[in-house]
Amino acid sequence: MTEPFLQPISWTEASEQQLVAATRAALANAGIARIARFPSDAWRFINFLSMFGTPLRYYGDEVGTHPADAAIWRIKYDIAGAKRGDAHAVDGPLSVHSSQSLRMPRPRYFSMLMVNSGWQDRPAGENGESVLVRWSDAFKLMRMQMPTEYDALVDQLLKPVPFPGTNETRSVAYRLDSADHEFDLGIRLKGDLLEFLRPTAASHRAVHALECLASATRTVAHVVPLASGDLVLMDNDRWGHGREAVVGHVMREGKPLINPRELWSVTLG
Ligand SMILES: [Fe+2]
Repeated sequence: MTEPFLQPISWTEASEQQLVAATRAALANAGIARIARFPSDAWRFINFLSMFGTPLRYYGDEVGTHPADAAIWRIKYDIAGAKRGDAHAVDGPLSVHSSQSLRMPRPRYFSMLMVNSGWQDRPAGENGESVLVRWSDAFKLMRMQMPTEYDALVDQLLKPVPFPGTNETRSVAYRLDSADHEFDLGIRLKGDLLEFLRPTAASHRAVHALECLASATRTVAHVVPLASGDLVLMDNDRWGHGREAVVGHVMREGKPLINPRELWSVTLG
């Protein structure tokens, strides 16, 4: 069953003001909003998101940038891009992470628009289902499962550790000025952070804390198959996002048949 906060609000052209109001209410209530049947139109997407913040250019390589707007990152499988390891073009799963994890100050929101959900007839977990995690749910579970260790684990996550892609250190968890309760912490997570830190486990106790967080994350994750036209807007401090596996292509009569899946993402500051 879809969680109430992931029940989509319907997009209708006639009531964009109401749509913005309903989205604001969902963000205030759950930190996440889902809208169905949003048009695949770069201008409308950016225009709508601009009601919630400033669309930021992608801060990594530019190869995935949408030609119509540099703030849109277009995620679409292609064989050559996947061979080069271009992040926007690869298949397979993506572990749960935060948008633009190195950027300071932290970007407030992250949004994705499923332009084409692509192949949906594979076994569960191979259709590129979105994986959405409210970090406070993971912390609540950790506290329940490891009551004596919990405070020390959180302390470790609040300490700076080396991050891939920079010479600076960052803490995975951070306190939020607007925190509602003790589990309401901000998280910045890079998909490859755990693998990056693992060889240093002896000197960074944060590795163990990160493993506990990752394990709790798997339990509390919402796996949501997004339909074409689904737009999700989430609080980038409080929610992480990832995806189940995507099959990039299959061979048909000696030729590759490409999965038409296409998703646009935008980060708001
Ligand atoms: Fe992402």
